[in-house]
Amino acid sequence: MDPASALESAHQLLNDAILYHEGEPVGTAAALDNSVAAENYEECFVRDFVPSALVFLMEGKPEIVRNFLCLILELRNQQSVMAGHERAPGLMPASFKVPKKSDASATPSADFGDRAIGRVAPVDSAMWWMLLLRSYVLTTGDLALAHSDDFQDGMRETLELYLQESFETSPAMLVPDASFMIDRRMGVYGHPLEIQALFYGMLSTAQELLISNDENKRLLRISKKRLQTLRSYVRIYFWLDLERLNEIHRYKSEEFGTGAVNLLNIYPESIPGWIDGWLSPGSGYMLGNLGPGRIDFRFFSFGNLLAILFGLTTEQQAEQIMNLYEYRWKALFGLAPLKICYPAVSGDKWAFTTGSDPKNVPWSYHNGGNWPCLIWAFVGAAIRTGRSELARKALDITLDRAPDDNWPEYYDGKWGSLIGRRSNHGQVWSAAGVIIAHQLLENPDSLPVFESINFQ
Ligand code: GLC
Repeated sequence: MDPASALESAHQLLNDAILYHEGEPVGTAAALDNSVAAENYEECFVRDFVPSALVFLMEGKPEIVRNFLCLILELRNQQSVMAGHERAPGLMPASFKVPKKSDASATPSADFGDRAIGRVAPVDSAMWWMLLLRSYVLTTGDLALAHSDDFQDGMRETLELYLQESFETSPAMLVPDASFMIDRRMGVYGHPLEIQALFYGMLSTAQELLISNDENKRLLRISKKRLQTLRSYVRIYFWLDLERLNEIHRYKSEEFGTGAVNLLNIYPESIPGWIDGWLSPGSGYMLGNLGPGRIDFRFFSFGNLLAILFGLTTEQQAEQIMNLYEYRWKALFGLAPLKICYPAVSGDKWAFTTGSDPKNVPWSYHNGGNWPCLIWAFVGAAIRTGRSELARKALDITLDRAPDDNWPEYYDGKWGSLIGRRSNHGQVWSAAGVIIAHQLLENPDSLPVFESINFQ
């Protein structure tokens, strides 16, 4: 398909996916595919709507984004008791369903993970909501919405919940497995990078959008402190390049007391074999996860790209991540965009990490599949680091592939050449991601949607 027709097909899918409530557009369905495996793909997922919303903002159609932001705020009151356990306000839904047209009086119903496969809590939703609010305010100038009582209450409740001390021993946020885009068991419990990037983005946003008054003083102070400590911690301890790898390789362990260098008691024996020779001089990345005695060396694309976009990495680290993409292009970008994580886990490790999940077999879905929806973050991060040529190459590959394959949700295979065995077609965030990527390259005026957060 030529690029113009490809973009037209993306727009068509996005527009067809718009969901209406009481005659107003309020979101987009996750996929338009009559044969989808799970019925909740008809629903609007908060994380999936973000790329759709960025397109609407870039194209001067902010109403749907405003309606969505207001609706999510309302829906957070629908939180149900799960297994007898009543949860704190501040969590926002993973997705919501709009009632059928014939049932106009009914209200949309939200899912807080209580209906979702695996019953996972969507920790990322409230953070995406706040980040989207920031993009909305930046593009429309409608600060009044963020400053309204309801929105200030919503932000406060979320910050109270997310800043509550639990059992963390570092500034990084502690979460259960599957609490974000990777919403199935994948060994991403603890302190996954994507959550840290979103947390950092949300805390920075709070500094901009919470009104500085007596009521908010304490939250503003602790969120500022946390974002500073989180940033230093991630920049130092999540970072891996050749120098750091050598350090870890020769780490002393069992260090007791305050002068320890190997703070988390990482045993060098836990370094996986594949990493030797995998990094080039001048490249590096943020590790997937970090906890006591544990480094997850897997490379997770979205976390790394969001860390660049939100300014959680240093500029040099951002460049080194892009160098790694260039150096390991086939492995990390592949024949269809974009590896979600590398490498896949297999054998006993797969059984143990995923609970023997047939959807997450090696090099498929969350376990090393390729996801076109990540293209917007890749192109945004590449442009931010001055690597437009990589951004262009990435978009060309995507335009060559995804529209002809009818916008799959994901691809399978080590190099990503196969349409995912259980993948939906008509996956809306695959199409929205391509439109954003194209806009960012063609029209730099559209950049304010993620004008970088540079909070000191
Ligand atoms: C899958 C993905 C999740 C996404 C949802 C809807 O569950 O893992 O990230 O939000 O599909 O597309």
